[in-house]
Amino acid sequence: PKLLVQAAILQHIDLSSSIKQMTIAAPLLAQTAQPGQFVHVKGAGHPEPLLRRPISIAGVNREAGTLTLIYRIVGKGSAMLAALKPGVDLLDCLGPLGQGFALRGEKPLLIGGGIGIAPLLFLAQCLCPLPAEIIMGGRTQGELTFWQPLFKDACQHIHVTTDDGSLGVKGLTVDILPQMLARHFDMIYACGPQPMLRAVTAIAGTHRVPCQVSLEERMACGIGACLVCTCNTESGAKKKVCSDGPVFWAEEVLL
Ligand code: FES
Repeated sequence: PKLLVQAAILQHIDLSSSIKQMTIAAPLLAQTAQPGQFVHVKGAGHPEPLLRRPISIAGVNREAGTLTLIYRIVGKGSAMLAALKPGVDLLDCLGPLGQGFALRGEKPLLIGGGIGIAPLLFLAQCLCPLPAEIIMGGRTQGELTFWQPLFKDACQHIHVTTDDGSLGVKGLTVDILPQMLARHFDMIYACGPQPMLRAVTAIAGTHRVPCQVSLEERMACGIGACLVCTCNTESGAKKKVCSDGPVFWAEEVLL
C-alpha cells in the first residue's frame, strides 16, 4: 500500500559535496518498503507540487521505524530538499513506490554507477548473509570513498572503478565485468546511467547470467498517471518506469 506521510527528519548529513543522506521516521513505510523501491518527496507544506522528487530507498531499519534516503543535489527540487533541517522541517513522503528487485540466486553481483549505488545499499542489506559482491563506479575518488564503509558489512568484496583512476581500477564498471563473471555469479543487480545498464545487459546476456536493472528515469507524478517516464520494451509495449519499474528484467526493456 502507498502511504502519504509527513515524516520527521532525524538526521541529514553530507556524504560528499553533492550527495546527502537523510534519515526519517516513517514506521509504516519502513514495515513494507522493499529494496529497489523509491519514495516521492518534498518539503512538507511546500505549495509547489512539481518539486516532488523521486529518491531511492537506501536503507530501512524496521525495528526503529526509519528510512534512509541518499540523493544527489542536481536541481531546484533536490536543492530544496538539501536545505531541510532535522528537528525543524518535515518531509512530505509518498511511498513506498514502484516494483523493487526480485531476490533470487545464491551468489549475487551488484553493479552501481554514481548515485545509482544508493538503492543497492538497501538491496545488499536484504541479501545478507549471501556472499554478495559489488562493482561501484564513479568519475573520481571523491564520488566513491564514502560508499565503501557503508557497504563494508553487507558485501564480501567491493570492487571500485573510477574514470580518472584516482581510486581502484581506471575505467568503467563494465570493463571489469567480463572477468568477474568468470566466477559464476548467478544474479546481477544493476543501477546507474543508461549507457552502463545497456553494457551490463549485453555482457550479462553473453554470459547467460540473469540480470535486473533499475532505471533512473525522469519522473513527474511517480504513480503511473502522467506517462512522463515511459520506456520501450522488447514486446513493443510501453512500460512506466515509476509503477511497472523502476526495476525490470534486463531482457524485458530496450535501453
Ligand atoms: Fe507519471 Fe511515471 S512519473 S507515469
